[in-house]
Amino acid sequence: MAEYNQLYQMARYYDIALRRDVSPEVDFMLAVYRHYVRREVRAMIDIACGPGYHAREFARRGVQAFGLDLRPEMVDFAQEQAKAEGVEVTWLVADMCCFKLSQPVDMAICIFDGLDALLENRAIVEHLRTVSANLSPQGIYLLEHTHPQFSSLNHYGEFRYSGQVNGTSVDILWAVNRPSFNPVTNVAEVEIEVRVHEGDQQQIFRDSARERLLLPQELAILVEQSQALQIVGCYGDFNLNQPFDNSDASNRMITVLQKL
Ligand SMILES: C[S@@+](CC[C@H](N)C(=O)[O-])C[C@H]1O[C@@H](n2cnc3c(N)ncnc32)[C@H](O)[C@@H]1O
Repeated sequence: MAEYNQLYQMARYYDIALRRDVSPEVDFMLAVYRHYVRREVRAMIDIACGPGYHAREFARRGVQAFGLDLRPEMVDFAQEQAKAEGVEVTWLVADMCCFKLSQPVDMAICIFDGLDALLENRAIVEHLRTVSANLSPQGIYLLEHTHPQFSSLNHYGEFRYSGQVNGTSVDILWAVNRPSFNPVTNVAEVEIEVRVHEGDQQQIFRDSARERLLLPQELAILVEQSQALQIVGCYGDFNLNQPFDNSDASNRMITVLQKL
């Protein structure tokens, strides 16, 4: 079972703190597909989708969308939101290492460090093969990670996410235990603190998970080992003109893979 057990079960709180306008990100994803495949995306899957922000935005634009997450609570929440918005997405509760869609999709995405839940090399390779098996010819897999300048082997960054909806405010403080990545396994034990204010009630809880740091060269080796995908591009933001480098404008690590 995925970790951050409490946070991911309380999908509504995750959503209050993390909801954001993903339309510029989806503009970029559509442009990436056009750039590498020279066609429009017709079908996509949002992997480790959480509340399914991206799947819902693709669906709003007329793309056939799937959203997959291990947590039934997340998938139920995503489904309710999609229904309220009148968008159609096929939701799946499944492990990202092992799933089979009813049809191949042109594009798969895994956003906001979704892949860090896969702790072992073997699981990552299995995942890459699974994704590739669900892609159409020339299909694209787009991964987004925290830029190593903000969180890396000798320094796990501190992050805070806050939001308010209908009188409920949620504040999530990430890495309150000042974790570090084990230099052998690249895994960190990360604790978060979730503060919820609802009317005059306040609750604070702590949650934890193991997270895997994946550096670009490791990812390159694992992709090669999968024999199912190849890396075709790296970007430092949701912007085709922003290279992945150490400049200030390069603040995410986005890797574009293509089905072999
Ligand atoms: C950081 S959230 C990302 C959510 C979303 N992509 C976003 O942009 O906000 C990570 C999600 O990965 C899911 N997850 C963790 N392990 C998983 C697995 N093995 N298979 C599928 N989903 C998984 C969690 O349930 C959680 O919803």
